[in-house]
Amino acid sequence: MENPFVYGRVVTGEEFFGRSKLIERIQGYIRTGQNIVVFGERRVGKTSLIVEAIRRLGLPCLKVDFYEVRTQREMITRAIRGIERLEKEAPFFSRWLARGKRVRGKITQEYEQPGMVPKVSLEGYFKEPVSSITDLLDYIHDFQSEKALVAFFDEFQGLLGLENAMDILATMRSEIQTHGQIPYIFAGSIRRKMHEIFMEPKHPFYKSALPIEIGPIEFEEIGPIVLRLFESGGRKVTLEYLQSLYHMLYGNTGDFQQLCSTLWEVSKPGQTLSRDTLREALDTVWETEMPVYAAIRKALTSQQNRVLQTLALTDGKEPFGGHFRKVAGDISPGTVQKALARLEEMDLVFQPYDSKDYRFYAPFFKLWLIGQVTYPLELPGQ
Ligand SMILES: Nc1ncnc2c1ncn2[C@@H]1O[C@H](COP(=O)(O)OP(=O)(O)O)[C@@H](O)[C@H]1O
Ligand SMILES: [Mg+2]
Repeated sequence: MENPFVYGRVVTGEEFFGRSKLIERIQGYIRTGQNIVVFGERRVGKTSLIVEAIRRLGLPCLKVDFYEVRTQREMITRAIRGIERLEKEAPFFSRWLARGKRVRGKITQEYEQPGMVPKVSLEGYFKEPVSSITDLLDYIHDFQSEKALVAFFDEFQGLLGLENAMDILATMRSEIQTHGQIPYIFAGSIRRKMHEIFMEPKHPFYKSALPIEIGPIEFEEIGPIVLRLFESGGRKVTLEYLQSLYHMLYGNTGDFQQLCSTLWEVSKPGQTLSRDTLREALDTVWETEMPVYAAIRKALTSQQNRVLQTLALTDGKEPFGGHFRKVAGDISPGTVQKALARLEEMDLVFQPYDSKDYRFYAPFFKLWLIGQVTYPLELPGQ
């Protein structure tokens, strides 16, 4: 039997577990054309949730991912890629051009392979960043006049990295405002940046979409599904064991799937999953992520590394308290404060919206840091 656990990409259909109430809620907003903004940690399942909600409605979706977009050129490329994907499902671009929309170039058709459908090259039409955004939104608007469409801008906070971010956002907002019927869905993983865009009065997108907070899939929902999958592959495992793994990863959906997938890889049918299996699985995960960890540590000063390690050891609790300073080995509150700011800026740690603790974006990295100074690493299981 093949490994049933999937991570590192969007999951839909049979691979998509649970969340039926949220799906219905999002579908309700789509039907009424209500714009929404979805907040949630990385890998918690935002993209999958939105894509699945739209898929089950059977609507075409224009999805553009602005993750860490650095230049205007890149931003345009992302938009074009989004249109290309949509065009495969529901061709519209040629008709759009035929309407005499902002035609800037000649239509070029590339035949990738003889006998294949012609591929329209969109490059020529989207040149300047700001007008490209206007073109993109025009395209969405005109498309919608023929066929219902959902526009989904993912990792939207990425736009803040552009030099003329404010101009671009202002242009987008004023166009989107005139698209009353079109449901726009925004999502993003870096909470403080998403809040800046949607919650700060000085921002063009202030209060422009209904905020929705998504958290991990409840263990009551995902636990039994995962248990069944392990059992169907002959692995012996208890719900309690799975629950402790789930908590170790703060319930993060993607991380939990990654760990389950790795546990599956390092075990055989008939085997009971134990603490040793877990250790082996973690070693496997760390091995692939090691270059990333090394690069992060190299980019930090020794003080920053010390604070990061201490956050791991103290579970991010009260970094200005006595215990933290003791574990860190005499460190001034000022140093801690500066280091924390840098670690947040590098998107290594964050404060969950409902807690004062500092949490790692990557729980496997946190466990690895603990493992660097603690032997043996305390792990759940027998
Ligand atoms: N509903 C779900 N059912 C099963 N796995 C999920 C679900 N949602 C997310 N995942 C897991 O989390 C990973 C990341 O999901 P994704 O939608 O990309 O999260 P985000 O957009 O929040 O970063 C997926 O690859 C998958 O392993
Ligand atoms: Mg995503």
